[in-house]
Order: sequence, then C-alpha cells, then structure tokens
Amino acid sequence: MGKLDQHENPAVDPAEVPQRVLFSGARMPAVGLGTFGSDHVTAEQVAEAVSGAAAAGYRHFDCASVYGNEAEVGTSLQRIMGKGIKREELWITSKLWNDKHSEEDVIVSCRKSLADLRLDYLDLYLVHWPFPNFHPPQCDVASRSPDAKPYVHESFMKTWRKMEELVDLGLVRHIGTSNVTVPKLKLILRDARIKPAVNEMELHPHFQQPELFKFVVDNGMQPIGYCPIGSPGRPERDRTPEDTTPTHDPVILEIAERHGVNPAAVCIKWAVQRGQTPIPFSIHHYYENLACVVSYPLSSEEMQAITGLDRNCRLIKGQVFLWKDGQSWEALWDMNGEITPP
Ligand SMILES: NC(=O)c1ccc[n+]([C@@H]2O[C@H](COP(=O)([O-])OP(=O)(O)OC[C@H]3O[C@@H](n4cnc5c(N)ncnc54)[C@H](OP(=O)(O)O)[C@@H]3O)[C@@H](O)[C@H]2O)c1
Repeated sequence: MGKLDQHENPAVDPAEVPQRVLFSGARMPAVGLGTFGSDHVTAEQVAEAVSGAAAAGYRHFDCASVYGNEAEVGTSLQRIMGKGIKREELWITSKLWNDKHSEEDVIVSCRKSLADLRLDYLDLYLVHWPFPNFHPPQCDVASRSPDAKPYVHESFMKTWRKMEELVDLGLVRHIGTSNVTVPKLKLILRDARIKPAVNEMELHPHFQQPELFKFVVDNGMQPIGYCPIGSPGRPERDRTPEDTTPTHDPVILEIAERHGVNPAAVCIKWAVQRGQTPIPFSIHHYYENLACVVSYPLSSEEMQAITGLDRNCRLIKGQVFLWKDGQSWEALWDMNGEITPP
C-alpha cells in the first residue's frame, strides 16, 4: 500500500498480500484476478487488465481455455516476466474445458493452454466442470449439447488419471476441481492418486456454501471463490428474477460506509478473512480490489453480520450442462446430498 508502480499508478506490495499454503507447501496469493470477460469485454481488454494488475501487485491469475483469451493473456504474462517479475513469483491457473474430458484430449488441451499462455508449467490446472457437456460460446441457457451426459464417476476418474499424469510430466504443479459437490468430491478423494489441491466454487455473501466450504477445508483443500462480488457484469442469459446482489445489501453498504470503501471491497475483505481465495474480475477496479485486503480488517462483529446474510442464492446455475429434457438446474448440484441419478 502507498507504493507507486513505474507509471506512477498506485500499487500494493505483493509481499503484503496474504497467502494460502497448499498441502504441497506451495504458497498461493489469497486474491487473484479473474479473466473471464463475461462475453462483453474483449480479449485485449482482459490482457491489458492482466498487465495493469501485475503492476498493481497481483501475482495470481485465474485463466481458462474457454475464456477465449489465453493467447492475449500469454502476451501480457510474457511482458510481465520481461519486466523482471520471475515466473516463480506468479500463480497461474488454467482449466480443462468440458469437451476435452476424453483421455486423448487432456494432455493436448493442457499443452495448448501452456503454449497460449507462453508458460512451461501451470501452478494449477482444474477440471472446469464435472460434466463433459459442450456448449457453444454465448449460447442461450436453453441450449443443450446433443450428447449431454450426467456425472459418471468412472468417466470422471479417467479424466482425472490424465490430470495426474500432467503432474507426473511436470506440466502442472497442482490439479483441482471446480463446480463439484460434496458427494462428488467424496468419491474423487477416495479414488484419486493425486488429490485435488483446491476446489473452485461460487462464493459471495449471498451464496456462502457453508457445507461444501467446510468439507473442502476439512479435507486439506483450498476453496477458491468465483463471482466474489456477485458477478454484476454477467451476461443477461445468466440472470434470473430471484437473483440477489450482495453489493446492494444494506448490511454490506453500511460496513462499506464505515470503512470508507466500496461494497465490492467489503465482499473481497470478507472472503479473504473467511479463508477462501476470491478471484474478482475487473478491468477498472483491480487496484482497489487488492488494496482492500491489506487495509484495516473487518471486525469479528462485521464478519458475523455478513455470515448472517447468506441467502443460498446461486448465480451461476449451469443450465447449459443439464443432460435431460425437462430437468431443472438443481439436478447439477446434488441438492439432496447424493449424486443426481442419470
Ligand atoms: N470455475 C468456474 O466455473 C468459474 C465460473 C465463473 C467465474 N469464474 C472465474 O471467476 C472470476 C470472477 O467471476 P465474475 O467475473 O463472474 O464475477 P465478479 O468478480 O464477482 O464480478 C466481476 C464484475 O464486477 C465488477 N467489479 C469488480 N470490482 C469492482 C469494484 N471494486 N467496484 C465495482 N464493480 C466492480 C467488474 O467490473 P469492471 O471490470 O468494470 O471493474 C465486473 O463487471 C471470472 O473472471 C473467472 O476467472 C470461474
């Protein structure tokens, strides 16, 4: 805090940013920059934000092949490293997309992300969704891939064996899951040779997922939280009338006023203090989103007040990954504690 980068923009000292220690002993910065432009921000704008965010003190970047911008982000990463930030100071995540779950595709797809990002290895590679169901970019929520399938654990483990091979090959340092539930994770943990180091999941004050959060932490994984401020820029197709907005919550607004920060910053401070790693996307507010975690912490009363705001309001419902006609999105999330039958 209080520093300036080489262009006189404000910057946070990366050494001040809290770190998460993974089961391997590796350290991951407890705030990352999301890189999904939600279909309305171009790949070039995201790449520019990555460069600006690195200058502002970010060292953790959450990427994915499906975001369609890894080549542009890779150019920024190369520039960042050209300016003296060492590879080992960065934490780079990428993700295997749903149409690349077959055994012959996993390593090829990871190598493509590495080539696009211009890296020799990834710190973390996630299976983006546990369903092998493709959907075209920007499609409607009613769209379904014709051969859509449910979660089949044996098939997922075939994908996971190739993920493990990526670690053996030295192409990735850690592997992890995303968008899984407790019953799915129980089976994955039972059968994995290399267990997931993290689980990436939607987490914000209106969707705290206490049971999954506890399960992840109790099993030695780190929870990474996406949509940490409630994804105000998400596409229209990902909105439903029931959705609520944490940054409009009166309790969040009151705490923000008390701390002299904006409501998004309160969501990020809460996330870091609770123990998850938020990955806010931003092309305009990335400095303040990092600066807020090295400023005055929320009090235990404020933390408790935010715990009381949970509305179980999932914003990213995943409808396009359903596998049967007439299903509701809840089927993807194993609502009764068991994997939804095929
Ligand atoms: N694993 C998965 O399946 C999955 C799913 C969804 C997302 N993700 C990851 O999580 C990241 C974050 O999720 P998200 O982008 O959906 O939601 P988000 O981070 O909650 O929200 C991003 C939006 O908030 C705005 N914003 C950020 N900071 C702000 C501030 N301080 N004040 C006001 N507005 C602010 C941004 O606008 P500006 O750009 O104008 O600042 C942007 O429109 C993604 O980029 C992606 O990397 C992963």
